[in-house]
Amino acid sequence: MADPLVLGIETSCDETGVALVRGDELLVDAVASSMEEHARYGGIIPEVASRAHLEAMVPTIQKALGDADVDLSEVDAIAVTAGPGLVGPLTIGASAAKALSIGLNKPLYGVNHVIGHACVDQLVDGPLPERAMALVVSGGHSSLLLVDDIATDVTELGSTLDDAAGEAFDKVGRLLGLPYPGGPHIDRLAREGDPTAIRFPRGLTAAKDQAKHAYDFSFSGLKTAVARWVEARTDAGQEIPVNDVAASFAEAVADVLTAKTIAACHRHGVDTLVIGGGFSANSQLRDMAAKRCAEAGIDLRIPPIRYCTDNGAMIAALGSAVVRAGVAPSTLDIPVDSSMPLTTITV
Ligand code: KG4
Ligand code: ZN
Repeated sequence: MADPLVLGIETSCDETGVALVRGDELLVDAVASSMEEHARYGGIIPEVASRAHLEAMVPTIQKALGDADVDLSEVDAIAVTAGPGLVGPLTIGASAAKALSIGLNKPLYGVNHVIGHACVDQLVDGPLPERAMALVVSGGHSSLLLVDDIATDVTELGSTLDDAAGEAFDKVGRLLGLPYPGGPHIDRLAREGDPTAIRFPRGLTAAKDQAKHAYDFSFSGLKTAVARWVEARTDAGQEIPVNDVAASFAEAVADVLTAKTIAACHRHGVDTLVIGGGFSANSQLRDMAAKRCAEAGIDLRIPPIRYCTDNGAMIAALGSAVVRAGVAPSTLDIPVDSSMPLTTITV
């Protein structure tokens, strides 16, 4: 029997994503973004994002179906992001998914956004091995996950105690006077700078942090260190070597992320690492991960960037995995959860 056709809906932040997946095959991935509307505010405005999702939802579903030449009646199951994310935006997606589930009389699966970021890699690189490590890094999350079964068994080894990696880049971007979101700008400048110019702190890497926070991250001290360094230079009337600051900052973030992740792989006997989330576009992280994974004999899987930023494919992929694993569907009264635990794969 053919694998079920799963329609996935993602609305946790500013992207309205709708995709169709059968098995591990992606049929279509349609996305509408309201980022342009947020850029002038320097951050995502949940009310604005919610209204944009409401307007984009039906057209994006229609676009996905049209592009894949699929009729809605062919859909076997609906998957939707139940959390974590912004409550208003999540609610729009969940409402649309519930309406489809009722209208089509097909099962609904409320799934975890962050686990979707890891699962989407299966559409590109094939099924994950029995045990894999996933580093999910974006503007909203920085989490290290031990994935024993993407549909049923995920353990959160660590996460950020303060800022997410992308968020730290955006904040440092702001203090360097770069446009929002600052992440890609810092990446570009860092490529022209010297990563060894300034030794910025590596959060939670001291010996005393090993017991409790071996796999947790903290970037706010680093951000403050960059701010202090820039302030001191400015006060002394000196020019800021922006490229070197960007490169040294990016180096510190990439160093901590890769060192902790590879240590976790060794600790848990894992030789496959997936990196997902919008921050995985970062050149410094990619280069360092590639180098260190090669040295450590770890197979590194990073999906193309369009599947790393928020999208419907990641939700359809996870929906497809849970349906095939025989997980029970969600009830139609499921809530959305802005801080859904990462061990909860479905609700
Ligand atoms: O996954 P995503 O599109 O949205 C969230 O769920 O947050 O991630 C966007 C985040 C932003 O913080 C952005 O500045 C950062 O990822 N980002 C980057 C790069 N591309 C995106 N940060 C550093 N270097 C990049 N090349
Ligand atoms: Zn995300």
